[in-house]
Amino acid sequence: MATVQEPASLDTDKLMSFVFRAVDEVGATLNTALVVMGDKLGLYRALNGAGPVSPAELARRAGISERYAQEWLNAQAAGGYVEYDPDSGRYVLPPEQAVALTDENSPAYLPGLFQTALGSVLDSPRITQAAKTGAGIGWHDHVHDVHEGCERFFRPGYNAHLVAEWLPALAGVVPKLQAGARVADVGCGHGASTVLMAQAFPASKFVGYDYHDASIETAKQRAVSAGVDDRVSFHVSAAASYPGSSYDLVTMFDCLHDMGDPAGAARHVLASLAPEGTWMNVEPAAGDRVEDNLNPVGRAYYCFSTLLCTPSSLAQEVGLALGAQAGEARIRAIATGAGFGSFARVAGTPFNNVFEARP
Ligand SMILES: C[S@@+](CC[C@H](N)C(=O)[O-])C[C@H]1O[C@@H](n2cnc3c(N)ncnc32)[C@H](O)[C@@H]1O
Repeated sequence: MATVQEPASLDTDKLMSFVFRAVDEVGATLNTALVVMGDKLGLYRALNGAGPVSPAELARRAGISERYAQEWLNAQAAGGYVEYDPDSGRYVLPPEQAVALTDENSPAYLPGLFQTALGSVLDSPRITQAAKTGAGIGWHDHVHDVHEGCERFFRPGYNAHLVAEWLPALAGVVPKLQAGARVADVGCGHGASTVLMAQAFPASKFVGYDYHDASIETAKQRAVSAGVDDRVSFHVSAAASYPGSSYDLVTMFDCLHDMGDPAGAARHVLASLAPEGTWMNVEPAAGDRVEDNLNPVGRAYYCFSTLLCTPSSLAQEVGLALGAQAGEARIRAIATGAGFGSFARVAGTPFNNVFEARP
């Protein structure tokens, strides 16, 4: 009988350790769907502050089937999202998990990240096909969970850092915003950053541009709901050709690397700025070398980059495909190559690099 020959150098302990790590990852991948399920069905919110609950109590509180509640709770317990007490058969959501899974105002809020990840995975068969030819898939072409999840993922970070840290890190920008400035937020998506800035600086005028018409429609609704539509407008327009000139501030949040022609966009930003204007460009945190990004945050971004950002850029003219882990040196080269006289990294978080470029 034929037997499988293992190479003499094969370390079977290392092999099995890798296999069990992979099993953990499969569980984590599937749990992405269960977190979105828990978010959409209100399961985490029903557990929040409820103390130890049985599956029947969770089912009653959330209005779902008890059998599904039980299986979902067991999966959450196995992953450390809830704690299980075998004596009582009850499950509890610890306060830290409750913040991360239910508090939309916390910078630690996670459901948006899971929602955009699930949407990306749902779209992955088309990315697999596109990878054979190098074809692109545009941002507009993804399922709604990608767009809504992106907004819900980024907004808590903007709430925590944009007005308190990032704008003050830009030379002379906050006094202009307080006095009344003209601001363009390019690649604004659902307008989370635009609305936030408009709430903080009522004397200024903000215009959000994005090439994705459905995102612009949502952004308009967000401005009305926030009561800032007197000073914010949103329009469909591409980054390399949006209208207007003499802006005091042009912002981009997590979108330059999604563009086909970031160099063309940077040239247009420069042309649209006032002589003393500022371009604030927020990009995913990344080092310049691959080996700088081989960590959990870099891994998530490289995965998103494969499924979302790189296909997005390849779907557009030029198709430079910077990738979500471009790093400071490549962003600097884009800015200085477009003619900006100064460029600096002025702030950051574990997830973001904040760059300032000035004429
Ligand atoms: C990752 S999303 C970020 C959205 C938003 N800035 C935020 O922080 O929530 C990237 C955005 O860039 C937009 N985008 C991509 N290429 C663009 C282009 N060439 N011109 C304008 N917007 C573009 C997409 O439509 C999408 O809304």
